[in-house]
Amino acid sequence: MALFRCCVLSLLVSLTYIALLSSLCFAADPSVSYEFHFSYLTASPLGVPQQVIAVNGKFPGPTVNATTNNNVIVSVFNELDENLLLTWSGIQMRRNSWQDGVVGTNCPIPPNWNWTYQFQVKDQIGSFFYFPSLNLQRASGGFGSFILNNRVIIPIPFAQPDGDIVIFIGDWYTQNHTALRKALDAGKDLGVPDGVLINGKGPYRYNNTLVPDGIEYDTINVDPGKTYRLRVHNVGTSTSLNFRIQNHNLLLAETEGHYTMQQNFTDFDIHVGQSYSFLVSMDQNASTDYYIVASARFVNDSLWQRVTGVGILHYSNSKGPASGPLPDPPNDVYDKSRSMNQALSVRQNGSASGARPNPQGSFHYGSINITETYVLRSLPPVTINGTSRATLNGISFVNPKTPIRLADKHNVKGAYKLDFPNKPLNRPPRNDISIINATYKGFIEVVFQNNDTVVQSFHFDGYSFFVVGMDYGVWTEDSRNKYNKWDAISRCTTQVYPGAWTAVLISLDNPGAWNLRVENLDRWYLGQETYLRIVNPEENGETEFGVPDNVLYCGALANLQKYTSKNSVSLPFSGTETLFVSNVNLQGKIQAIVDSPGGIICFEFHFKLIVCSLLLLDSLNASSPESPPKARWRARSSTSAVAKPYACSSAVPNDAVFRAAVPPQRFGISTTTKKTARTTSNKQRCRGFGSGGGGLFGLQRGGGRFVVVVVD
Ligand SMILES: *[C@@H]1O[C@H](CO)[C@@H](O)[C@H](O)[C@H]1NC(C)=O
Ligand SMILES: *[C@@H]1O[C@H](CO)[C@@H](O)[C@H](O)[C@H]1NC(C)=O
Ligand SMILES: *[C@@H]1O[C@H](CO)[C@@H](O)[C@H](O)[C@H]1NC(C)=O
Ligand SMILES: *[C@@H]1O[C@H](CO)[C@@H](O)[C@H](O)[C@H]1NC(C)=O
Ligand SMILES: *[C@@H]1O[C@H](CO)[C@@H](O)[C@H](O)[C@H]1NC(C)=O
Ligand SMILES: *[C@@H]1O[C@H](CO)[C@@H](O)[C@H](O)[C@H]1NC(C)=O
Ligand SMILES: *[C@@H]1O[C@H](CO)[C@@H](O)[C@H](O)[C@H]1NC(C)=O
Ligand SMILES: *[C@@H]1O[C@H](CO)[C@@H](O)[C@H](O)[C@H]1NC(C)=O
Ligand SMILES: *[C@@H]1O[C@H](CO)[C@@H](O)[C@H](O)[C@H]1NC(C)=O
Ligand SMILES: *[C@@H]1O[C@H](CO)[C@@H](O)[C@H](O)[C@H]1NC(C)=O
Ligand SMILES: *[C@@H]1O[C@H](CO)[C@@H](O)[C@H](O)[C@H]1NC(C)=O
Ligand SMILES: *[C@@H]1O[C@H](CO)[C@@H](O)[C@H](O)[C@H]1NC(C)=O
Repeated sequence: MALFRCCVLSLLVSLTYIALLSSLCFAADPSVSYEFHFSYLTASPLGVPQQVIAVNGKFPGPTVNATTNNNVIVSVFNELDENLLLTWSGIQMRRNSWQDGVVGTNCPIPPNWNWTYQFQVKDQIGSFFYFPSLNLQRASGGFGSFILNNRVIIPIPFAQPDGDIVIFIGDWYTQNHTALRKALDAGKDLGVPDGVLINGKGPYRYNNTLVPDGIEYDTINVDPGKTYRLRVHNVGTSTSLNFRIQNHNLLLAETEGHYTMQQNFTDFDIHVGQSYSFLVSMDQNASTDYYIVASARFVNDSLWQRVTGVGILHYSNSKGPASGPLPDPPNDVYDKSRSMNQALSVRQNGSASGARPNPQGSFHYGSINITETYVLRSLPPVTINGTSRATLNGISFVNPKTPIRLADKHNVKGAYKLDFPNKPLNRPPRNDISIINATYKGFIEVVFQNNDTVVQSFHFDGYSFFVVGMDYGVWTEDSRNKYNKWDAISRCTTQVYPGAWTAVLISLDNPGAWNLRVENLDRWYLGQETYLRIVNPEENGETEFGVPDNVLYCGALANLQKYTSKNSVSLPFSGTETLFVSNVNLQGKIQAIVDSPGGIICFEFHFKLIVCSLLLLDSLNASSPESPPKARWRARSSTSAVAKPYACSSAVPNDAVFRAAVPPQRFGISTTTKKTARTTSNKQRCRGFGSGGGGLFGLQRGGGRFVVVVVD
């Protein structure tokens, strides 16, 4: 009992501390600003040219380097042909889910649009990364490192390293994210990846048979005798990787925001979405360069040989290139506990300071009563309503059209359901916008039960959780007896082995709507996620920020989106300008706000949807003298030279390009007029028509504006 009291006290103290700090420091804390342009770039990491997603022309993207409590400002320019949202995995966005960058909390940034993220990295340190959260885009890149340094007054629990090196590892396909999406939509498995990239580059040619000539590989230059902090992130699609450096120990020191008990490893398993810091001493004699290896785990080695990332550690006094076989992978085909034991050996260093001067171990999580338990069971993909979907507790998540908290603020009814089951139910799987009605200040237990066939990683936005246990078999209440109640690591992404469970404890002190998802991109795309809606019933503006001034609107609120010359899309206009629209639902209304003093407007739609046959967009029917003729928009394929209307079938590819079948239309509206047009489509004939969320796009033309809002 005494123990319990003391822990409540320290919990209160730390909460007060946060509240105090946040009200005092927000404005005063220094800012770091970045401008990020997302665009396609042709690269050939595995020798096959493909479009990757670059940030400011770089793949991987630039590093965000900030210090605890800094205000971070990132202006994101979407120069892709699809919607974009940037999420900041592990950055807790305290009180501020408005900046989290997932589609349940933020409207997407449309193509040719820019949006500025603004948030404080409150009370956090550690190694994280950002990435585009929509539509499997991370499989094409767009990721970069997010380093959160300790404030100078707070010591780190090791000597200041001589250098800081970021290493991204990840499986890679030579097909881009749109092609991979198509495969998943068609119910296919993505299959064996084409390779593993290290920092966006292919393997060093360690074997002439396995690695073709002319592949660019990553080299890390170091000086002998120095010690470097390596921040290693698995940014891949779905493959667990074993990371190792020939002849060098990896001294594990930090993971996803907390310092660990330091221990040496010769190799370490890093699962999709996870981040680790290792201190590596350059204590070898540099008789050659050394291999850096990231190899696929838990797979048939003879089939997956190509799926090995190889980089080079080059000492400044190196006497020659690396040669010979790669350092051995773990030999544990018959020992499925090795990897799990390694994970369980990662302990928090309770006496080290984290972001605050008080030790990381002062929150005695092990003696707090659990207020709610959620057992979330993942299953392999199944067919629901004719399409392949993945489920958690039988729910395959459907993204809300209107972000959850935005819907709350505007009293949008039916935007989501608060009925996510807290344990697997014996009922058929379904697609649903179902989220968890979580209790503010609750202390919850979440058990991930992996009944899928692959290792999965689960991540929770806005929080860090204590990984108290994992084991093979089915979790029962008795499993709690085996929990680590003292020094479990607190992190934001945990692996769950197939046929096994992982239990985490979370203190729900950060109001908002927060995404709980699988990090394996394929399963995530197929619906294995949900949100926890955590609202302070006594909210008075102190525990959750209000809607930011620059919030984007979509879904039921799309008509609130303002198009000022500041934020409308500005394009040079030639009469054949291409507008990109994705993730729109043409079954809904298309509302066109025309505010342009005449001119020729012709556009091309890119639809992500399976669309059929003729798209008849009734003319704007403007009542001005120069009213356009009845505009008939006809679906045509841009890929076939002689465009033919698509037949009404689900075989129509996604991302098909549709052109207006009529010559450029003349829209002669001379005054500000608001018009509504409707798509007329034949629902009966168009099976599969109409998935996708809302979207917006706009076009600024000369002195006037032409803006189209697609609402659901
Ligand atoms: C993706 O690849 C497909 C071919 O598989 C190609 O048609 C498409 O243009 C590519 N998309 C991007 C954005 O590069
Ligand atoms: C990050 O910024 C700090 C200064 O705030 C600097 O000392 C450090 O070298 C930078 N780190 C990286 C990796 O750029
Ligand atoms: C978009 O970029 C322009 C030019 O940098 C800037 O003036 C504007 O404020 C930005 N808009 C948003 C919403 O960030
Ligand atoms: C290269 O890999 C092939 C295929 O696994 C193997 O047969 C061969 O022995 C390897 N070559 C060397 C030099 O290790
Ligand atoms: C880890 O290994 C290095 C040698 O690479 C050694 O110097 C260091 O003492 C070891 N640290 C621990 C905590 O075992
Ligand atoms: C350098 O280290 C390697 C591996 O530890 C060893 O085999 C080799 O003999 C050493 N060479 C020299 C010149 O010390
Ligand atoms: C790995 O795959 C090869 C080729 O398909 C097969 O012959 C072999 O039996 C497999 N090994 C295991 C351990 O499943
Ligand atoms: C834990 O952190 C302390 C700093 O408070 C440090 O001195 C100690 O070496 C760390 N212990 C381990 C095992 O990493
Ligand atoms: C915590 O649980 C124990 C055992 O169920 C109970 O005796 C105690 O009153 C609980 N404490 C609180 C604060 O609810
Ligand atoms: C299948 O789709 C129909 C119509 O969209 C919907 O009413 C039904 O609930 C869906 N079934 C499942 C299992 O999701
Ligand atoms: C959500 O939970 C709160 C209590 O935490 C309860 O008052 C409310 O009725 C619940 N809402 C729904 C829709 O279940
Ligand atoms: C899934 O669960 C069923 C029933 O508990 C069990 O028979 C099966 O082995 C499990 N499969 C995996 C991959 O966990």
